[in-house]
Amino acid sequence: MAGYREQRQQQKIDSAIQRYKLFIEKKEYQSAADACEQVSRLYTEFAAMAGETYEGAEQQKKRRNQARKFKDLAVRVRTGRVGGGDSGDGHDGTPTPEAISGEHADAVKRLVVKSPVTWNRIGGLEKTKHDIKFAYGLTMAQLPEGIRMEAWRNIMFYGPPGTGKTLLAGATSNGLDATFFNVKVSSVMSKWFGESTKIISELYDMAREMHPSVVFFDEFESITQARDSGNDSGPERRILSTILAELDGLTESNETAARYVMTIAATNAPADVDRAVLSRFQKRVFIPLPDRAAREQILKINITDLNIPCEADLGRLAESMKMYSGREISSICKIAISAMIEEKNDRIPGLVDKGKDAVSEYRMQIRPLTEKDFSKVLREIRPATPEKPTKTFEQWITNVPAD
Ligand SMILES: Nc1ncnc2c1ncn2[C@@H]1O[C@H](COP(=O)(O)OP(=O)(O)O)[C@@H](O)[C@H]1O
Ligand SMILES: [Mg+2]
Repeated sequence: MAGYREQRQQQKIDSAIQRYKLFIEKKEYQSAADACEQVSRLYTEFAAMAGETYEGAEQQKKRRNQARKFKDLAVRVRTGRVGGGDSGDGHDGTPTPEAISGEHADAVKRLVVKSPVTWNRIGGLEKTKHDIKFAYGLTMAQLPEGIRMEAWRNIMFYGPPGTGKTLLAGATSNGLDATFFNVKVSSVMSKWFGESTKIISELYDMAREMHPSVVFFDEFESITQARDSGNDSGPERRILSTILAELDGLTESNETAARYVMTIAATNAPADVDRAVLSRFQKRVFIPLPDRAAREQILKINITDLNIPCEADLGRLAESMKMYSGREISSICKIAISAMIEEKNDRIPGLVDKGKDAVSEYRMQIRPLTEKDFSKVLREIRPATPEKPTKTFEQWITNVPAD
């Protein structure tokens, strides 16, 4: 779970990125490059922090990647190959970055991912799963003779962090056998600052090309926050208009309209998304903390579905985990399992000392998990979601699950 230190580091990174953008805007490219290098260093430190948490390996890789990207960007900025100039935005004289213009297709392709998530990997949220399947099922089924009908294409998930919004988007793309574009808004804006508008247009072109597609915008609130900051001429404003035009289907020709592209946006901070943008999403779905039944399913997904023996009663365990998010429940399971493995296999380090053969002959020991294994972890990990959200927004009434 992201601890205080990690949050702090993320803030440092964000503010260094802000400085970078500011210098680019003021055309102070050497200072911009300095800031960029700093971002890269901060990401390297950030990567080291990830090692200490559970989902560490994946995060570490991402953060190292970011560190490398910012390092490369710093070089390009320093050597005048990035002017931050979006075409037609009044930036003068700065060489339009060849390095970037030829790269859009690659950049967009890099956003295409294959999600391994299937519907049964998601605990609870039955109604939501049903609604999504219904929506895209409608677009594929044959219409009654002579009837014209439009299925909804834009959907927004909102709710506390770690409740399955990203999983749902992944499963949707998987179920549709769709091309899945996973766009973290803040990172597109920081990495491709000034170019992000073009990235978005190209992204939708490619999505239509490779239909059916799911375009997923994570951390969607970061777009509209930028819009509210009063900076009307900034690239944030333009990227927003571009996305709105795509959501409205304005850029579709008759020929491409039949190609199904579903846009899914997710946010933990719905109150920060402004009304004009919200209205573009025909479907808005609150993704709550899991209720008791969903918690039990999530436990099952993380223990018994993995064939880990378990004596603890999952129903009772679920009962004791009120207010925990899906992410928290998953990490609790992982921690309990790994503590059990460590306890049963304390010979491994000694065997490693003896050499490769000694270890490879050794078969790992396990034992059934007990309630005690879980109660220990539960004392250390407390749910992070507050009972009352700090901001209000339509159905965003309470965070407390219904059970
Ligand atoms: N409903 C759920 N069912 C199963 N696992 C879940 C669920 N919600 C969260 N998780 C676990 O938490 C992790 C993060 O979930 P994610 O979908 O990224 O949350 P969000 O996007 O809402 O912040 C997942 O990878 C999964 O391990
Ligand atoms: Mg997520």
